Formats: sequence, structure tokens, C-alpha cells
Amino acid sequence: MSLKHQDIISKMSLEEKALMMSGKSVWQTQDFPQYGIPSMMMSDGPHGMRTQAGEGDHLGINVSMPATCFPTAATVANSWNVELGEEIGQALADEAVTMGVNVVLGPGLNIKRSPLCGRNFEYFSEDPYHAGKMAAAYVRGIQSRGISACPKHFAVNSQELRRMANDSVVDERTLREIYLTGFEMAVKEGKAKSIMSSYNQVNGVYANENAHLLQEILVDEWGFDGFVVSDWGASNDHALGVKNGSHLEMPGTCKTGMKEILKGIEKGKLTEEELDQRLDELLDVILETHPATEKAKGTHYDVEAHHALARRAAEESIVLLQNKDNLLPLQDGTKVLVVGDFAKTPRYQGAGSSLVNPSKTPESILDNIQKSGLIMTDFAQGYVRNGKPNRKLMDEAVAKAQEASVVLVFAGLDEVSECEGMDRAHMMMPQAQNELIQVLAANHKNVVVVLSAGSAVEMPWKNDVRAILHGYLGGQAGASAMLRVIRGKVNPSGKLNETYPYAYQDTPAYVYYPSRERTSEFRESIYVGYRYYESVGKAVNFPFGYGLSYTSFAYDNLKITKDGVSFIIKNTGRVDGAEVAQVYVGMESDTVFRPVKELKGFTKVFLKSGEEKEVTIPFDDKTFRFFDVTSNSWQIETGTYQIMVGSDAHTVCLSGELKVKGTVKKGPYDKVAHAPYFEVDVTNVSDGDFEVLYGKKLPDGGWSGEIGLNDTFCQFYYAKGMLARLIYKVLKWKKDSAEKKGIPDLNILFVFNMPIRGISRMTGGTITMEMCEAVVEIANGHALKGIGHFVAGFFCK
Ligand code: BGC
Repeated sequence: MSLKHQDIISKMSLEEKALMMSGKSVWQTQDFPQYGIPSMMMSDGPHGMRTQAGEGDHLGINVSMPATCFPTAATVANSWNVELGEEIGQALADEAVTMGVNVVLGPGLNIKRSPLCGRNFEYFSEDPYHAGKMAAAYVRGIQSRGISACPKHFAVNSQELRRMANDSVVDERTLREIYLTGFEMAVKEGKAKSIMSSYNQVNGVYANENAHLLQEILVDEWGFDGFVVSDWGASNDHALGVKNGSHLEMPGTCKTGMKEILKGIEKGKLTEEELDQRLDELLDVILETHPATEKAKGTHYDVEAHHALARRAAEESIVLLQNKDNLLPLQDGTKVLVVGDFAKTPRYQGAGSSLVNPSKTPESILDNIQKSGLIMTDFAQGYVRNGKPNRKLMDEAVAKAQEASVVLVFAGLDEVSECEGMDRAHMMMPQAQNELIQVLAANHKNVVVVLSAGSAVEMPWKNDVRAILHGYLGGQAGASAMLRVIRGKVNPSGKLNETYPYAYQDTPAYVYYPSRERTSEFRESIYVGYRYYESVGKAVNFPFGYGLSYTSFAYDNLKITKDGVSFIIKNTGRVDGAEVAQVYVGMESDTVFRPVKELKGFTKVFLKSGEEKEVTIPFDDKTFRFFDVTSNSWQIETGTYQIMVGSDAHTVCLSGELKVKGTVKKGPYDKVAHAPYFEVDVTNVSDGDFEVLYGKKLPDGGWSGEIGLNDTFCQFYYAKGMLARLIYKVLKWKKDSAEKKGIPDLNILFVFNMPIRGISRMTGGTITMEMCEAVVEIANGHALKGIGHFVAGFFCK
């Protein structure tokens, strides 16, 4: 294969070529000015730039340059507005180039398999089509400015616990249809120039060295021609990674990565040609993105314009979940009591590598309410953030409520409840807040709950309050956006990116998630989110795609052709507004088990009061396809498909049928052998039934009795060595005391979930792999031998 940058590569020594494949620092790639290779800078993150001018870290600990904090991905996903996603992408890139950043590390689009994943706030959706459309939009926006986006984390990374050492065990069809489709769209529709591999293993092989993912699917099937970067510290065997389709190991490991590649070539693990090929692909993006940052040197982005965009994004993403007797919007001069710590100190973004240092002081409700036209009778704190129920604060709120005609309670998840590096322990809001809402609702008839949270929560008080507005994590301008919705200056048009089940026990992965073993088995298969609830007819608090408006819409006149659907939507209410219409497709089949409906298209339409429009949603290559595991390819089953147009996943407004002549007459599954999947009895699938679906023997994820290189520090709990158990106790104590204070310790969380091999990667090679092996010996109770090997390793470097 001919190389694009043969002229450069031919001048480089083998060592230099190998060195290029690992970073120079936490954020930059190596540079070789003598060959015209500049350094390339990467920076988080998905909803705002986290570019560190000083000391770099990948956990959001050290301060970064001020940047606009846009609403997080989960929030903007609720807008269902791809143009908005593209605009945010452009704004992110406009900021990135002024900071010298060539690669924006985002968007994040892992599937919300469970509401408990600690990083759900950073991800778009429980549905791959929705996630893929939004991600492709961000990618197009970012890359329109000449730099690269980096969709992450590829792939099947839906759990934070032991995130660096988990093996996601998932059958091929589920992998393709649920966990990869979004990435496929980001690559094919967004033309992503880079992609970040995830920490975990996928079916026994680390994502960063997984030839099936990186070569066969990403390159051969999707035509990806950019570079793959490991998640920070995810590289396991760099030589194998480079051979199998990964390019860059981050952060820099001094010369550890280089040595591994050189040794690999010497031993025949990979060839120099393979290294050249990877280097060529990497150089391509480095050289292509360099001019944009050069040109932007010394320029500034428009802080005010981006703040205004952040506000518009928040406004479009707010979801009106309940509005009994149309209490909202509130009229000018309405007397309101504002309750809740969140009104004073907003919860507007999540913690971890995505943490943005906002370009303007994040807005709060208290600072903005005077300008809103509402009359605030008083403010009551209501609860102690991250504290126990507080009777005094609750009584105070109830007493103050009597003066007001409406009580606005600002509540949700606090900083320790959702965070990178840990999964939520349950789906409840803090008890102090639930009790407060309950007691206010018992004493006042007009309670409005305004939520800030990046993921689904249980709502035991739902029926007792009048209205519920959900702002998710609205970014630095989220408070004024919320007030504009409360006042009706903006008509809410957001719809949920995920289902809100009544209780966590209702979720399909309840028994399996998060896995505490070495493997994480995806036994519920394709039945994620609404695919499960709708198929089994389980009632939920709010379905996927749900959201109310201050106006109403009527759907009519469905026409279905082989190319798509068209129908009329009319705004039948008295105010202007926007509706998100969704197209779902299903088919009953005896040979392909399927959810009753799957999202295959959507559109957001703005309509003036009384106006109607005909909208068309075309079918595409994903509308009827299923992944056929026997031929290992996408196929369409011949049959009659149900086409449903809905205002959410549960509410079908129009429906019809379409006969489709497919590529196959039947699918590969047997109704008896795959009974749990045809019957959607998936919450407690037996080993045997899952093994039949998986198609091969299930790996043993159990505890072997010995700590290995790929075991994490949190598993030191089981270690034979006293020293290791002591380390576990200290880490656990530090983790718990940080949580008690309400501020998660990201360093500790990272170490807690880090495998022992990661020490070498994260210390830039100061601790070698030999020394890591010595740590394993110590952990397994061979303290003297281990310490000896550790010391010897230190001196033999
Ligand atoms: C996160 C990535 C992030 C990287 C760099 C990792 O810990 O998983 O999402 O881009 O750090 O900050």
C-alpha cells in the first residue's frame, strides 16, 4: 500500500517512528521539526474545552483555561436538534483553535445501558440512532473548523466500576445493533478523523488492541481513515495495539511504548510496514489539522455569543415532564417561593475529565429571578447538599411557602451522585430532597419541581406535585434558560433521551449491572431502555422521547412509501412551539427476535399557533436492517413491517404497514433455543440461554484466587498480601471520606478502578512492567520476593 507521507516517513529512523506512536505529554504528540512534523494538541471535552495551560492531568483536577460550559451531551440530546448539535460543535472548535487544540476529545456516545452509569450525563442516549445522529452533528460542527473531533469511548463502555479492567461480554448482534451503530454514524455521517478506544475489553480483547473492532469494523466496513487514540492509560500492549489498528497511546509513557513497539517488531509481533501505515494515518491528521490552530494563534473567541448559544441550547433541551391544569408558564408578577440549595449554587455540569472552567460565572436562579418578572417572596435552602433530611430546613420552607402562590423547588442529583469513575449506587435522589418535596406538596397545592441531574431518577412524589421541569445539566447559562421556560418566554420542546422507569428494579439490566466480576455480561441483549419496556408492556414514569409543551400538536395523514414516511403535524394550541416527531419500526418474526419498536428517524418541527406542515422522514440503510450472525453481515428480512409515528416511544399517533422485499426470507434464530429473547424474558437469563445467544463458551469472570496484572486496586480487598489489603483500606477510606464531604476524589476513583499494569502507563514508564509484576507478587502474599523484584526492577531500568 502506498503511503501518503512517504517522503517524511522514509527520512525517519525506526526509533523515531515508534516514538511518534506515544504522546509527548499528557495532551501532546511528539514533534520532529526537522521532518516538518508539528506536535498535535488534544483536549477534553465533550461540552466545553478543558485545555490546561499549566500542569496537565486527565481527571479535571488542575485548572484549565476559561471556556464556555455548554449543556452536557445528555442535555443537548433532549433537544433532538441536530443543527443545534452542529452549532455547538462549531463553537467548541472556535474555542479550541484559539487554545491551540487540534483534537477535541468528544463527543461521548456510549449507550445508556443502565441509568446508574456514572458518566451518563456525558452520553447522548439509550438509543443508538438518536446518539449517532447527535454525535455525527457534533463531529461535523467541530471538523468544519479544520480540526478533528474524537468520538469516544469505542466501545461497549457503559460501566464505570473497574472501567479499565472490565471485559464486556456481548453477543455480536447486540454489539452491532446497539453498541456500535452510533459510532458507525459518527464515522460515516460525521466523517470523524479520530476515535478514542475505550478502557475495557470487548469479548476478551482490550478495545485498544481489538482487531475486530479497529480493523474489521472501523476500517474495513466503515471506511475510517483517521487515527485511533487510546483512552488515557488504556493502552495494554502497545505493539499489539499498533498492529491491530490503534495509533496513539496517551498520555505519554516516555519511551515505554516505543520500546514495546521496537521489541514487537524484533519478535515479529508486528511489522515495520504496519508501523509505517499507522504512522502515515496519524501524520495525515496532524498535518491536516495544524493550519487551523496556526491561523488562530493570538485570536479570541466571542465569549458573549457563545454564552448566548449555551443559553439557547439549554432552552431547547429543557423537558416539561408534567404540567397539571397548565400551571406553567407562570404569569408576570406571580409570587413564588424559591426553595433548594441548587437555586443558589447551580448544578450545571458533571465531574471528571469533562469538567469545564466556565468563561462566565455560572448563572444561578437567585441571581436571575429578579429580572424574570416573578416576585420572589423568599428563599429557603430546604436541604443540605449531600446531607441527611433536615427537619428545621423543611419546616422553614413549609412556613415560608404560605406567602407564595407557587413553590419552585430546585432539586436533583448532587456532585457525588454522578461522576466519572463511579456508578451510582441507586436511582433515587438524596432522601433530604425527596422528603422536602413530599412535605411541601402536602402543605401547598402549587409545587413545581425543577430538576438538575444528568440521568434518570425515581420520582416518588410525582403524583403529588403540580409540575415538573427537567433541565438536566444546563451549562453556564442554564438558570436564565430555565427561568425563561418557567415564564413562557420559551415554549419547552425538549424530549427525554432515556426512559424514566418507576423504580430501578424495573430496568432490564438490573440483575447484571454493574458487574463486580472480571466480565460484564450483557445478557439482556438488544433489549435496552424503551426496547425492553415497550416490548414487555411495562409502565414507566416517562417514556423515552417524552416531553410536553405549552401548546398541543395533532398528527394526521400518514403516507408510507418505500422511501419513507410523510405526515402532517398541526399546532393546535394558542402558542407557537416545536414538536419532535419520531418514527419507530417493528416486525413480528419467528426467526429474528426484535423489540416491538425501534427508533428509525425523527425530526423537530417549529410551528406557529394554528400552523400545520407536512413533514417527510426518509428511510435509510438502518431502517429495516438486522445483523445476521450466520452470514456476519447486515440483512433485511422480507416481511410486513409496522411503521409507527409517535410523539414518544410509547405514544403512537399514526401507524401503518409496509411490505418490504428484503435480502433474506428468514433470520438465524430458533424460537425454542432462543426462547428468553423471543419472549423478552431477559432480566434473569440463565448461563445456558446466554451461551446459546453468545454462540460460544462464556468466559469465566469469577475470582481466581490470585491477583493478576489486569486486576484493579479495588480488588486488593481479596488479596492474600497484608500490604495490598492495607492499600485497599486506605484507598477506600479516602474515597468514602471525600464522598461524605460531597466532593468526589477523582484521583482516588481513578486509582481504585485502575489495573496494576496501568501504574506503568500512568507514571510515564517510571514504574516498569517488571515492577508492576513485582506488585502482583506482593499482592499475592509474596512480600519479600516481590519487594526484591521491585527494587531490582528499579535499578535495571
Ligand atoms: C476519560 C476520557 C478523557 C481522557 C482525557 C479519561 O479518563 O475516560 O473521556 O477524554 O481521560 O482526559
